[in-house]
Amino acid sequence: MFLQTIKTQVAIIGAGPSGLLLGQLLAKQGISNIILERVTGDYVLGRIRAGILEQGFVNLVREAGVGARMDREGEIHEGFAIAVNGKLTHIDLKGLTGGKTVMCYGQVEITKDLMEARAAAGLSTYYQTSELALHDVNAEQPSVTFNYQGQAYTLSCDYIAGCDGFHGVSRQTIPQALRTEHERVYPFGWLGVLSDTPPVSEELIYCHHERGFALASRRSATRSRYYLQVPLTEKVEDWSDDAFWEELKRRLPAELAEQLVTGPSIEKSIAPLRSFVCEPMQYGQLFLVGDAAHIVPPTGAKGLNLAASDVATLYAILTRVYQQGDKACTSRYSEIALRRVWNGERFSWWMSNMLHNYQGMPVADMGSLTFKRFMESELNYYLQSEAGRRVIAEQYVGLAYESV
Ligand code: APR
Ligand code: PHB
Repeated sequence: MFLQTIKTQVAIIGAGPSGLLLGQLLAKQGISNIILERVTGDYVLGRIRAGILEQGFVNLVREAGVGARMDREGEIHEGFAIAVNGKLTHIDLKGLTGGKTVMCYGQVEITKDLMEARAAAGLSTYYQTSELALHDVNAEQPSVTFNYQGQAYTLSCDYIAGCDGFHGVSRQTIPQALRTEHERVYPFGWLGVLSDTPPVSEELIYCHHERGFALASRRSATRSRYYLQVPLTEKVEDWSDDAFWEELKRRLPAELAEQLVTGPSIEKSIAPLRSFVCEPMQYGQLFLVGDAAHIVPPTGAKGLNLAASDVATLYAILTRVYQQGDKACTSRYSEIALRRVWNGERFSWWMSNMLHNYQGMPVADMGSLTFKRFMESELNYYLQSEAGRRVIAEQYVGLAYESV
């Protein structure tokens, strides 16, 4: 096979939101980059993900010059609600945080906007690559080898951004003895339904219920996204649309259940819940970004937002490297990124514990009655106290990005 050699400053592995956003920002600063993706663009866009964006993320997308459709079609949310066995408490994000809000705009839409902007700018992306491997990441000039359209390639570069998600190859390139992986797998999953029906509420509603957690979310005035906590043993084929709507009605506050508009699902899937962090997030010239380094359960809406803060940190570092010649600052990436990651991890874990029902789970998985009582008390305390609601609000809108 003929070997083709190409060159760039930053090799980006993965065309998910992390890789695409980083690529767009670097290109704005004149830093060349090539993205290598395992699947097709359409496949990437077929994965339905969450849709709550922190202000920091929104600003970054605008800085990348890709915010026009988001600003037109996204919804600003000034608050959300938590329902405990049918009783609603409003979390006034704007009032409790001195004016901060979140943007409701699907991850799929952001990804699509980023892909289109990248194509329009003529930036290089190789889709459907295979056999991808990282080399010499600990040396001055690392490289990535891969196959593309039947041809073997070597991409030589200064730095590698591992934006290849939880199942990617980048993290595995860090020698096992040099990384620590923290993991908690939750004893339940989320069954999600997307439907072209008017959402039951203008704001998101997180429901703690004796039958299990539920979430009423949305994508627009005509598209809803709902979730139900289900045992991990459940199969998506066993859930008819009718069964889903009936169970959702049981878990929503009664007045909302009455108003719920149901319809055929356009997507239905079960996702497991996991907390995961890899420390450190860098090795030599390789930096892990987003899901490649950490996973959170979706309860705090932090997955995409933590990916964005990694991107912001790496973008600031690489800009400094290429504009000021400060190569030493690269050593600070992991330390800066992990501080914010651990906060998001803790918040997502805490929200998950308070809002789900662990009844019937093994005691080792926190299924004891004592744990249930602790969590009921915790939720009750945080919701009835303004200080408590502020603690939730401050983290939901997102902590400030640390400067490099
Ligand atoms: N070679 C090339 N690309 C790869 C490889 C590989 N060996 N392995 C994985 N990829 C690609 C995947 O196909 C995927 O498109 O890397 C991409 C990673 O994208 P995501 O999993 O979406 O991860 P990330 O971009 O970090 O997005 C952050 O936020 O809301 C959360 O989990 C949600 O995807 C979301 C994440
Ligand atoms: C979603 O709309 O898919 C969504 C919103 C908020 C979450 C999780 C998922 O916390």
